[in-house]
Amino acid sequence: MRTDLRFGVIGWGYWGPKIARNLDGLSNASVVMVADLDQRRLASIVANQPWIKTTTSIQDVLASDVDGVVIATPVRTHYALAKEALLQGKHVLVEKPLTASVAEAEELVALAHDMKLTLMVGHTFEYSPAVNELRKLVQSGDLGKIYCVEAERVNLGLFRSDINVIWDLAPHDVSILLYLFGKTPKHIKVQAHAHIQPNICDVAHLDLEFEGDMSAHIHVSWLHPCKIRRVTVIGDERMVVYDDTNPSEMIKVYNKGADVHADPVVSYRYGAITIPHIDWMEPLRLECEDFANAIITGEKPRANGEVGLAVVRVLERAQEALQQQERSIPMATTAEESTVSSR
Ligand SMILES: NC(=O)c1ccc[n+]([C@@H]2O[C@H](COP(=O)([O-])OP(=O)(O)OC[C@H]3O[C@@H](n4cnc5c(N)ncnc54)[C@H](O)[C@@H]3O)[C@@H](O)[C@H]2O)c1
Repeated sequence: MRTDLRFGVIGWGYWGPKIARNLDGLSNASVVMVADLDQRRLASIVANQPWIKTTTSIQDVLASDVDGVVIATPVRTHYALAKEALLQGKHVLVEKPLTASVAEAEELVALAHDMKLTLMVGHTFEYSPAVNELRKLVQSGDLGKIYCVEAERVNLGLFRSDINVIWDLAPHDVSILLYLFGKTPKHIKVQAHAHIQPNICDVAHLDLEFEGDMSAHIHVSWLHPCKIRRVTVIGDERMVVYDDTNPSEMIKVYNKGADVHADPVVSYRYGAITIPHIDWMEPLRLECEDFANAIITGEKPRANGEVGLAVVRVLERAQEALQQQERSIPMATTAEESTVSSR
C-alpha cells in the first residue's frame, strides 16, 4: 500500500493555496502539480515553489501520476472537473458546495462508488475542533431537548458574481447543522434580497424545520459591517454559543433556561457559564489528513460525497423556495433522503 501520496490542485485563487499548504504539511503527502486557467495566478508558485509543476491545462494534472486532486475552482465548474478526474482514476476533494445541483452530486457519488475512489467535499467546519465539541454537547444530551438553532455568517463581502450568498456561505452552516444533528430538514422557508448586484441575493434568511419540533435559522450576508461566525444552540437544559471569531472562548455553555410552571407561568434559571478547553488544530489540516487517510485505507472520509449531496439537496430546495412566492416547500420525505452518513 502506498503511503507517499502525490496531489494535484486545480484552481489557484483564494482557497487553493490554503489547501495546498495543509496537504503539503502532511508527513505522507506532497503537492506536485497545480493547474489554473489564468497563467498569472501561477506566477507565485513559479517564483516561490519551483519544484511544483504548473500548467494552464487540467489535462496535464489528470494525465499525471498524482493519486488525488483538489478542485478549488468556482462552483459551476465542480461537477465537470470532478467527473473528469474520477474517470481518470483520481481520488477527488471538491470544494464546497460539492456541485451546483442535486443531479450532478448524485452522479458524482455514484461514479466514485463504481470507480472505488474517494470523493470528498470541503466542509471544513466539520473538522473544526470547536464544532466537534459542540456536537459532543448536543449528542450527549447535556443540553436537553434542542428547541432551536441560530446560525449567523455575515461580513462585508466577498461578493461573488457567479453564485448567490446562499450557495456561497450557507453550505457551511447547513453542513454544520447536518453534522450536529445527523438529519436533514423537513421544510425550508427562505427570504432573500439582492441589493448590490441584480438578481444575485446578498442577504438571505433560511428557516429550516426538523423532525422533533426543532427549528434552525440561518442568516448569511455579504452586506454587513461586522464579521460574525456564530452558531447558538438552545436546549431546554442548557444553551451554547459557538463563536468562531473568538479563538480563546469558541464554545460557551450557558447553564440558563426558562421553565414552565403554573404560577408564575415562566420561571428563569441562571447558572454558571463554562468554557470547555479545546485542543486546537487547524480544521483544514484535519480535513486534508482525512482525505489522505481515506485514500490510503479506503475508508469513507467524514465529509464524504453523500454528505456533500445532502447539503446540496438543502441548497437546491432553498433555491426553489426562494423562487416560489410563498417561499416554503417540503424537504425530504424518504428515509434515505432524511439521514446523513458520516463517520
Ligand atoms: N471551505 C472553505 O472555507 C472555503 C473558503 C473559500 C472558498 N471555498 C471554495 O473554494 C472554491 C474556490 O473559491 P476561491 O475563493 O478560491 O475562488 P477564486 O475565484 O479566488 O479562485 C478560483 C480559481 O479557479 C481558477 N479557475 C476557474 N475555472 C477553472 C478551471 N476550469 N480550471 C482551472 N482553474 C480554474 C480561476 O482562474 C481562479 O484562480 C469555491 O468552490 C469556494 O466555494 C471554500
